[in-house]
Amino acid sequence: MDKLVINGPCQLTGNVTISGSKNAALPILMACFMAETKVTLSNVPHLKDVTTTIQLLASMGVDVLFDEKLNIELYSAGLTSKEAPYELVKTMRASILVLGPLLSKYGEAKVSLPGGCAIGSRPVDIHIKGMQQMGADIRIEKGYIIASAKKLIGADITMELVTVTGTENLMMAAVLAEGQTVLRNSAIEPEVTDLACFLNAMGAKILGIGTDTLIIDGVKSLTGVKYTIIPDRIEAGTYLAAAALTGSKITINNADASHLTSVLKKLRAAGAEITVDGSNITLDMVGKKLLPVDISTAPYPYFPTDMQAQLMVMNSIADGSSSVAENIFENRFMHVSELIRMGADIYLEGNIAKIKGVDKLVAAPVMATDLRASASLILASLVAEGETEINRIYHIDRGYELIEEKFHKLGVDIHRTN
Ligand code: EPU
Repeated sequence: MDKLVINGPCQLTGNVTISGSKNAALPILMACFMAETKVTLSNVPHLKDVTTTIQLLASMGVDVLFDEKLNIELYSAGLTSKEAPYELVKTMRASILVLGPLLSKYGEAKVSLPGGCAIGSRPVDIHIKGMQQMGADIRIEKGYIIASAKKLIGADITMELVTVTGTENLMMAAVLAEGQTVLRNSAIEPEVTDLACFLNAMGAKILGIGTDTLIIDGVKSLTGVKYTIIPDRIEAGTYLAAAALTGSKITINNADASHLTSVLKKLRAAGAEITVDGSNITLDMVGKKLLPVDISTAPYPYFPTDMQAQLMVMNSIADGSSSVAENIFENRFMHVSELIRMGADIYLEGNIAKIKGVDKLVAAPVMATDLRASASLILASLVAEGETEINRIYHIDRGYELIEEKFHKLGVDIHRTN
C-alpha cells in the first residue's frame, strides 16, 4: 500500500495551480447522461473519485472519451443498465448522485445504499423522502435502493437538514419532472450552484440559484453543452493553510476567492497577509506569528467542514489556545489522535476539540483515515522535525490532484513509496 514520506520542517515558495473542483465535477458528470447530445467538460480534476464515476457511467452504457486537451466528452444514446452496484458505491458515496438523474430521465434506478463511512453515519433519507414526494416508489431491498416512477411530478419539498448531495440529487430529479418543484432549505455551496448553472446551460429551468430556495420548472429534454468546472475551493484552502502554517509566501493560481470568504477570514485572523488578484491569491506569512483561531463548521457560506482538519493543524502550533467545533459530521476528528502522536496538545470534548499550541511537532509514522484527515497529516509533516511516513495514502488520491508534484514544486521534500 502506498505511503507518503515527507521530510520536515520546510518552507514553501512559488506558485501552485488549483485543479477543478472534485465535488462540483462528480454531480456534473452524473448529470451528463440526461442530455440528448454530447457534453464536453473542461477543468475536470484527475482524481480517483472521478475515475470511479467514469467507471460507473461507462458500466451503465455512457460513452466516455478524452480529447487531446484532456477534456472529457460524454454521450449516451440510451443506457444499457440503470444500476450503481455496491462494489462502486462502497468506494465512493457520491455514487448516490446517480439516483436523481436515473429516475428523472428513465423512471427507474437501482442504487446501492452507501452505508456509513469514516466521518459519520451519513444517511440518505432526505434524498429518498424528496423523491418519494415527487411520486417515486422507493423500497430498500438487500442493501439497494430500488426506485421507480412512471413520471416524476414536481413537488414542494422542504429538506429538514441542509444537505449538499441531497440538494443536488433532488435538483437533478426535478429538471425533467412534470411541473414545478420548489426545494426549500437547499444547500448553497458553490458546487451546488455550479451544478445548477450546468443544468441551466443544458436547457433546464432553475431559478433562485445561490439562494436556499430553488424553483425548478421541469423541461422535456436537455441538450449537451461545453462546460468548465469551477476551481476546487478546498484544495485552494489546503495550500493556503500549508503556507500559513510554515511561515511561507506562495501564490495559488486558478482559484476563486469569492468561494473562500470564510476560510480567508480565518487565515487573516491567524496572521496571514492575503492579496487577491483575479484568479490568483497570494498568502504571505513570512516572519509573522501564527495566531490561534476558533473554528465552528457550518454549511456554506460559513466555515467548511472540509477545511476543519487543516485549520486544526495550524492551531496545533499557534501561539495560544483555540477551540474547533465540528457541527456537520459526528466523527470527523479521526486526525486528532494522529496529530497527538506528532506532539500536538488536543483534548476532545464531544464535538469540540480544545487545542493548546505547542512549539513544534515531531515526525512519526501516521495513518490517513479519510480524505481531509490525510491532507491535515501532510500539513503537519511540513512543520514536524524529521521524516513523517503517512500510511493509507489512497484516501488523498480521491481528492487532491498530483499532490506530491504540487508540494514538490513548492519546495517540499516529499515522495511516494510502498
Ligand atoms: N444528512 C442526513 N440525511 C441525508 C443527507 C445528509 O442526515 O439524507 C446529514 C449528514 O449525515 C451530515 C449532514 O446532513 O451530518 C450534511 O451532509 P451533506 O449531505 O451535506 O454531505 P454530503 O452531501 O454527503 C458533501 C461533500 C462532502 C462535504 C459535505 C459537507 C460531495 C460529494 N461531498 O457531502 O465532501 O464534507 O458535503 O459540505 O459533495 C470531501 O470532499 O472530503 C467531503 C466529505
